[in-house]
Amino acid sequence: MGFWENFKKDKKLIVAHRGARSIRAENTMSAFKEAIKKSDFIELDVGLTKDGVAVVIHDNTLERTSNVKEFAEFKKPYRVIDYTYKQLQKLDFGSWFLEEDPFESIKNGVVKLEELQALKIQRIPTLNNVLKFLKKYNYPVNVEIKDLTRTKYNKTVVKTIVDIIEDNVMVNYVLVSSFNHKYLRQVHKHNTSIDIAALQENEHPKDLVKRLKRLRVRSYHPEFRIADTDLIQNLNNVGIFTNIYTVNEDDDIEKLFNAGAKSVFTDKLK
Ligand code: G3P
Repeated sequence: MGFWENFKKDKKLIVAHRGARSIRAENTMSAFKEAIKKSDFIELDVGLTKDGVAVVIHDNTLERTSNVKEFAEFKKPYRVIDYTYKQLQKLDFGSWFLEEDPFESIKNGVVKLEELQALKIQRIPTLNNVLKFLKKYNYPVNVEIKDLTRTKYNKTVVKTIVDIIEDNVMVNYVLVSSFNHKYLRQVHKHNTSIDIAALQENEHPKDLVKRLKRLRVRSYHPEFRIADTDLIQNLNNVGIFTNIYTVNEDDDIEKLFNAGAKSVFTDKLK
């Protein structure tokens, strides 16, 4: 069994991009709890703290999604990798969402302000804690490993994450993706049973099919801008799924599914 065997063969899949990101602060436990049952699988991003703890956060810096600026001990550019997990636990990763209302979900009545205010402070989740939570449901999840090329953890980040997946007995429920395709090879060096996926933005690599076959990925994750029917069908013909990010309009989702896409990553769950 592998990640893709969790789903019926022809099922089109809705992926909760960073959790239920339009109604909860992204990549928080509250966003993941909300995404359960409203998606086919969840997508999250993982980076490492100064002391090597795998934490769930999209940006390399803390500014956009926490109240870091309120604390004197944190300094610009507020890089995740410059602080220990203990330090990061002081921050609130939920309140910015109420202030910014990034998808106008509060303004438009999609979610009630009081409902969000009633939530506890959202601390930065560790990958370990999120996988423990998802294990209770055997809920599939796409773990995107951030590119840590210019950090001291470039050579070890993949092993750290594979260990956490194995320790949580989630090998069959985790799909590992990365824009850094070298990391994908490393995943398979450690454990060939973990499914991997190549993320791509801007333009497709040369000799795409050859490259994907060589990487032994079962899926390709291009950004919406560079995905079209030809691409999807060419990849389907060689047995590779296309999973496209980030698609928030129903019409677009329908078109992509009709074109043969397997999954779409969306911020807007129903
Ligand atoms: O994994 C799909 C998508 O999340 C990749 O783009 O920029 O959100 O990490 P980004």
